[in-house]
Amino acid sequence: MAASASSPAGAATSASPVPAHASSLHAKDSGWSGRFAEPVADFVLRYTASVSFDQRLAAADIAGSLAHAAMLHEVGVLSGQDLADIERGMAHIRGEIERGEFTWQLALEDVHLNIERRLTELVGDAGKRLHTGRSRNDQVATDVRLWLRGEIDAILALLRDVQRALVAQAAMHASTIMPGFTHLQVAQPVTFGHHLLAYVEMFERDAERLADARRRLNRLPLGAAALAGTSFPIDRAFVAQRLGFDGLCENSLDAVSDRDFAIEFCAAAALVMTHVSRLAEELVLWMSPRYGFIRLPDRFTTGSSIMPQKKNPDVPELARGKSGRVTGHLVSLLMLMKGQPLAYNKDNQEDKEPLFDTVDTLRGTLRAFAEMLPGLEVDAAAMRRAALEGFATATDLADHLVKRGLPFRDAHEAVARVVRLAAERQCDLADLPLADLQRFAPQVGPEVHALLAVEGSVAARAHVGGTAPAQVLAQVAGWRSRLAMA
Ligand code: ARG
Repeated sequence: MAASASSPAGAATSASPVPAHASSLHAKDSGWSGRFAEPVADFVLRYTASVSFDQRLAAADIAGSLAHAAMLHEVGVLSGQDLADIERGMAHIRGEIERGEFTWQLALEDVHLNIERRLTELVGDAGKRLHTGRSRNDQVATDVRLWLRGEIDAILALLRDVQRALVAQAAMHASTIMPGFTHLQVAQPVTFGHHLLAYVEMFERDAERLADARRRLNRLPLGAAALAGTSFPIDRAFVAQRLGFDGLCENSLDAVSDRDFAIEFCAAAALVMTHVSRLAEELVLWMSPRYGFIRLPDRFTTGSSIMPQKKNPDVPELARGKSGRVTGHLVSLLMLMKGQPLAYNKDNQEDKEPLFDTVDTLRGTLRAFAEMLPGLEVDAAAMRRAALEGFATATDLADHLVKRGLPFRDAHEAVARVVRLAAERQCDLADLPLADLQRFAPQVGPEVHALLAVEGSVAARAHVGGTAPAQVLAQVAGWRSRLAMA
């Protein structure tokens, strides 16, 4: 061990959570060593082992093994006594793992061989019979699907929390006026509630994608064995039903080898993070004194060690940064799968760290946003002032002229000249006297000033999808019932 401690593989695993006392590198029997003339080199063991990270699959691994054992008994391959021994041993192991008392051994490579070895220590031959009719190849494919299914459910719940927080803020700000931007230039006034509901809709599509990925991954690989199936009279539907799978992977070669379900999940996760990063970026901008639109609760910001006046939006900034890392994991998994010949290859062991980190990053980010958004405070006056800055109601004036018979292109031209006048006088369009407006377009009517006020502008857009306060409130009501809000 000392000789290889400075090797790259040794360095890479030295920070692993496997406790030093647990890394007795030479187990008496690795689970497959019978054919080998010499033990695996220490650094190769460290290079190939996955137990430092795949131990988080333990609960799924035990659930899968229990369903497999019950099935073997059901079809007459395993005695009632063996099944009872396995169930007793697994209950014991589950307790050891939960209490942090389980000794993970690097020499036993992965979570599967560690648990199986401990089972055999505890219950003897019944433990050795558990692996009948299965392989670690279909075992790990099953474990990852089971584990990811549970994580998707937790992520969906967090995504709903974020949506609820946004809807609650949108309800409070249905008629709070802010500038809407295109090209980050003031474009037209919008309501802040409407702006927030844009994210609710993005996250709704994300939830649909996650639910869809969950539906496709919820099929059972177990029974594929190493790659070709097994000569035992297994009942795969029995196992699927026990584990809550909706169906079976119907080709054993595909079942053990494809990780498209993990890729799909990471793609959906990358989109969630991409949406979060857009919101994060806006929070950062809005919080800067240049905008001054919002304040975030102090517990989500940090100070500077040198500049006493600073309050930095670290949580949104980090979320923005972490979105890149999740997209990186998606690309890693795509590259991992690309060009792999059928069926299982050890490459697939590399699916876990990107997948686990994607889940952890997404869960942490969604939790932070779900807790931060309810504390967001809005400076409505600052938002309204900003909406008055860029002649944001110029389109309303053009629309007014069109309604009075002017072709849109001519109206556009006339309004452009009105805007130049307002710019010269450094006033808003709504401040120009009627007579001045009529010099550019005689069609302008006396009701124009109500339309040119930002309140009139947003109120006029009351159709489905529009920014009017009435429409925002209608959308909020719809979301409240969809999201089961009080
Ligand atoms: N730790 C392995 C993985 O994650 C389990 C499957 C190993 N199978 C094998 N034939 N070596 O993919």
